Amino acid sequence: MTSVSFPDTARVDALQKVRGAPIFASDDARPGMLHAALAVSTIPRGRILAIDAREARAAPGVRLVLTHEDLADLQLPGFLVGGYGFQNFQPLRTPDVAYRGQPIAIVVADTFEAATEAAALIHASYTEEHFDPTIDSPGAESLDQADTPIGKFLTEPVAGDADEAFAAAPVKIDIELTCPTQHQNPIELVATVAEWEGDKLIVHEGTQNSGALRHGLAQVLGIPAGQVEVISPFVGGGFGQKNSLQMQTALAAVAARRAGAPVKLVVTRAQLFHGSGFRPASRHRVRLGADSAGILLAAIHEVDSQTSRHDFFPGEYAATSSRLYGWGAFRGVQRLVRTDTQTPGFMRAPFEHPACFAMETAIDELAYALGKDPVDLRLANDTSIDPITGLPFSSRHAATCLRRGAERFGWSARSRAPQSMRGADGSYIGWGMALGAYPGMMIASIVKLSATHNGGIEIALGAHEMGQGIRTVIAAVTGRRLGVPPGEVTVVIGDTRAAPQQPTAGSWGTASATLAAETAADAMLEALAKLTPGSSIDGRSPSEILRDAGRASLEVEAMVKAPGQSEEVFDLIRAGKLLRAGPVFDNCVSFSFIAHFVEVRVEPRLRRIRVPRAVSVADCGRVISPRTAASQVRGGVVWGIGAALREASETDPRYGGFLNTDLAEYVIPVNADIGSIDVDFVDEPDSLLDSGIKSLGEVSLCGVAPAIANAIFHATGRRLRELPIRIEHMI
Ligand code: MOS
Repeated sequence: MTSVSFPDTARVDALQKVRGAPIFASDDARPGMLHAALAVSTIPRGRILAIDAREARAAPGVRLVLTHEDLADLQLPGFLVGGYGFQNFQPLRTPDVAYRGQPIAIVVADTFEAATEAAALIHASYTEEHFDPTIDSPGAESLDQADTPIGKFLTEPVAGDADEAFAAAPVKIDIELTCPTQHQNPIELVATVAEWEGDKLIVHEGTQNSGALRHGLAQVLGIPAGQVEVISPFVGGGFGQKNSLQMQTALAAVAARRAGAPVKLVVTRAQLFHGSGFRPASRHRVRLGADSAGILLAAIHEVDSQTSRHDFFPGEYAATSSRLYGWGAFRGVQRLVRTDTQTPGFMRAPFEHPACFAMETAIDELAYALGKDPVDLRLANDTSIDPITGLPFSSRHAATCLRRGAERFGWSARSRAPQSMRGADGSYIGWGMALGAYPGMMIASIVKLSATHNGGIEIALGAHEMGQGIRTVIAAVTGRRLGVPPGEVTVVIGDTRAAPQQPTAGSWGTASATLAAETAADAMLEALAKLTPGSSIDGRSPSEILRDAGRASLEVEAMVKAPGQSEEVFDLIRAGKLLRAGPVFDNCVSFSFIAHFVEVRVEPRLRRIRVPRAVSVADCGRVISPRTAASQVRGGVVWGIGAALREASETDPRYGGFLNTDLAEYVIPVNADIGSIDVDFVDEPDSLLDSGIKSLGEVSLCGVAPAIANAIFHATGRRLRELPIRIEHMI
């Protein structure tokens, strides 16, 4: 595709990446470095009675073993919403065991192998307590989110009297759906290299939020934040797993201090299933009421989602499902079910993917109940006004996505009846579609931009490169504004030494970083103009202007707020606090939209499901980097195929914890599962947001799973409302 907004730009770090030049934390090898490994709890809930580390301490190559008997002075990090950690629970701080797989000791040795071997020699005895491992556990406590401490920050969307309107509606849908627990599994494992230079702690860890690591480590270790620096120049995938202080980082830091040497701790794939956040399981009940012409009169979306016993992980599902159409009335209900796991986390479109699965399955069922085409039904209920607040959408091109997607896919050739399309090989062909939505949010930034007389341009700001291409975006917009090629702009991100670091998450990266870089570049142009009073700077590069003015270099700082934020946001950024703005702004409500159209083929005998092609058309506002934007959408579709047909973290209710803790058993799509993915963008700048940009990464996943489930219904006549849909559900 081509972008009307912006020319295509190759990834500025592509050459480095293909040469293997970037050093990820787990690649870090420095002189004198020791290696750490974790021993973990073998019970699902209780307390350590005694821990015996004598054998481990005597093992060859072991330098240090730390248990809760050594680390009582650690403090709690606070949960990310208000604090810094993915959970407000710090292993090894007390003898308490909150979940199976929780670390109970850290071993430091000369080699990774020695540390791993010694960790297996730690023996603990426990008292066990009652545990509820899943949201289906008979004793699991369910609370209205409104009655929990986070209830005062999150109110459920309500408009009109949805119950009355539903009761009176002539056509009704009332269904229940479930979405499983899932784990992110980025290819780069969570890894920390911690080194002390005197009182100063330097941490190299792949993270989406080096600011939270800095301030969270300071809090957990009881030292000033100014004594902690965090570097994270490249992250091998985040997807929300790495958006906060992890449970092992402080342990590695303490181990490095006590060992008197740098320590590297790589959390193993199996340990990560209990060592970081995950997508909570959720159950949904959706009620839709429509008139006989297909106009939506009412929707009620009730959700029960998983949290841990020690934190309230929020549920914000209906915040997005309520924005899909212009219903007459809406009511969202959110309950949290406490389970004995680590605290769930924000995994890629954390609420929006399950919410769209639930609502967009219901809409498809309504289309069949009405005898209407699913695209036409959606178009008939489109709206430019947010049904919850009454404010306009900042922009909304959902209808364009639907029309253009239908056209590119060839939707008009579809015959509506289930089982009515067959392939030459006898397979059932299903064509399904769905709409996805995701909030448009922003964060504020403090940016430093410098130019030198010999051509160097350097920009430093709070952002993290997880592979999504934000370094390329920042280089492209900065270079374009200053009239230099993107490759000549050095982008310093993920580094607390260079600029205050805000989390890169929530698909706000491009909108926030673009506005920040453009504002800083404008400040630079203004400062350059002042150096040459009376003559225009047009047509000259910053280095030429500096040379003409006899200056070696020039540095500017820009402070960029999101709409509606006050000046105090900059103090809060410096304190490492999470401060997102949106999707509700003063004058508008901002959401991105995407329409997915998919073809499935179901083998008639084995019932194996294939997805040979998908068409996705996204409305994300201005497209800044067409190449990486299209990659984001393709990745979202691949992940949606995984979410619909493969991925689930399994729990044995007798033992708790997660069972399939490796990539052999946690099944994700492989190349052979992926067919053609056709991507297009509306690419209309958003007129009510300063950046012109909404969100893209996460909306790409939203709506893929229901499009596939709806296509399976079209192929086979079977309505499957539990993810993932597997062969055994088809027979
Ligand atoms: Mo994303 S789940 O907001 O890192």
